[in-house]
Amino acid sequence: MDDLASLGLRLKAAISEAADLDQLEKARLAALGRKGRITELMKGLGAMDAAARKDAGVTLNALKNEIAAAIEARKAELEDGTLDARLLDERVDVTLPARPGQCGHIHPISQTVDEVVAIFGEMGFTVAEGPDIEDDWYNFTALNIPPEHPARQEHDTFYLPGERDGQRAVLRTHTSPVQIRAMQAGAPPHRLIVPGRTYRCDYDATHSPMFHQVEGLVVDETTHFGHLKGCLIEFCRAFFGVDDLPVRFRPSYFPFTEPSAEVDIGCTRQGGGFRIGHGDDWLEILGCGMVNPKVLENCGVDSTRYQGFAFGMGLERIAMLKYGIPDLRTFFESDLRWLRHYGFASLDVPSLVGGLGS
Ligand code: PHE
Repeated sequence: MDDLASLGLRLKAAISEAADLDQLEKARLAALGRKGRITELMKGLGAMDAAARKDAGVTLNALKNEIAAAIEARKAELEDGTLDARLLDERVDVTLPARPGQCGHIHPISQTVDEVVAIFGEMGFTVAEGPDIEDDWYNFTALNIPPEHPARQEHDTFYLPGERDGQRAVLRTHTSPVQIRAMQAGAPPHRLIVPGRTYRCDYDATHSPMFHQVEGLVVDETTHFGHLKGCLIEFCRAFFGVDDLPVRFRPSYFPFTEPSAEVDIGCTRQGGGFRIGHGDDWLEILGCGMVNPKVLENCGVDSTRYQGFAFGMGLERIAMLKYGIPDLRTFFESDLRWLRHYGFASLDVPSLVGGLGS
C-alpha cells in the first residue's frame, strides 16, 4: 500500500503542476486513461483472491476518486486562470477616446450650458424649459411689462402672425416667461434655472437675432438679497475659474424685479489685452433682482408670504468672455474650422470635480 500512497502523491503532484489544460489532460490520461496507472492497477484486481481484491479494490477506488477530484479542482483553477488571462488580454481602456481621430465637437454654447447646469446643479437648482413661441402675456404682461411700457421697445420683438388665447404670439425675447410658467405649474418653493433660445430683431458683432440666455428663479419664504449675492458671486467665480474674482452689484432697473441690479466682474484691459480677474476695469455680465411682488401675484403666489430672486444672463456673452471668442455671429455660421477650433471633445463632460472647460 506504500506504493499506492506514493503513486497517489506523484499523480497529484503532476496534476497540480499542470500549467495548462493540455498538460492536465496528459496527467489525467497517465492516471485514469485506458493505459493509466490506476486503470492498470484496477485491471490487476481480477487476478487477486477474493479477500485481497476486496481490500485493494476499496483502496484503489478511494485513490481513483481522490485523483478524479484533484483533476476537477485543477481544471476549474486553470479555466478561471484562462478567463482572467483573456480578460486581461482583451481589456478595453474605457478612458481612451471612443474613436481616435474623431471629428465631432461640442459647440461652445452647448458646453457653456453644461457648465452652467453643473454649477447651479451643485447648488440644488433644477433645469426647466418653456416654449420658444410665447404669447404677449407670458413674455411681457405677467412680468410687469404692460402694453405701452417702454421696456417693450427695448426688446425689438419678433411678433408672429395670429393670436394665441386672444394674445399676440411672439418669439420670446428672454427666458423670463419660464419663471411665470414654473410658478403657475406648482406651489413654492422654486429653485430652477432655464437655459434656452431667445429672439430679438438685432444683428451685429455682439447681437444675433437668435441667442441664448439662462434664467434663474428662487422663491420661498426666507430668501433675501444676501442669498442672491452669494449665489451669483459663487457662480461667477466657479464659471470663470477665478477664486477671488471681484464681483460688483450695481443698482439697475427691470420691471419684473425690485430692487434690481446688474452684475459686473473685474477685468483688466491693460496693454491692449483683456483678462478676467483683478484689474482696474469692470465688465457687465448679468441682470438680477428680487422678484417683484406684482409678478408673484400675477402667478397666484401670495407675495406677503413668499419672496425670492431672479437673474438672467446671455450665454453667448459669457462664452465669448471665457473662451476668447471675438464675434458673436460666428457662433451660428456653422463653419467647421471654427467649430474645430472653439469646440470641445465630446467625452469631456463638464463637472465641478472633473473641470469646467479650459
Ligand atoms: N430678462 C432680462 C433680460 O433679458 C434679464 C433678467 C432676468 C434680469 C431676471 C433680472 C431678472 O435682459
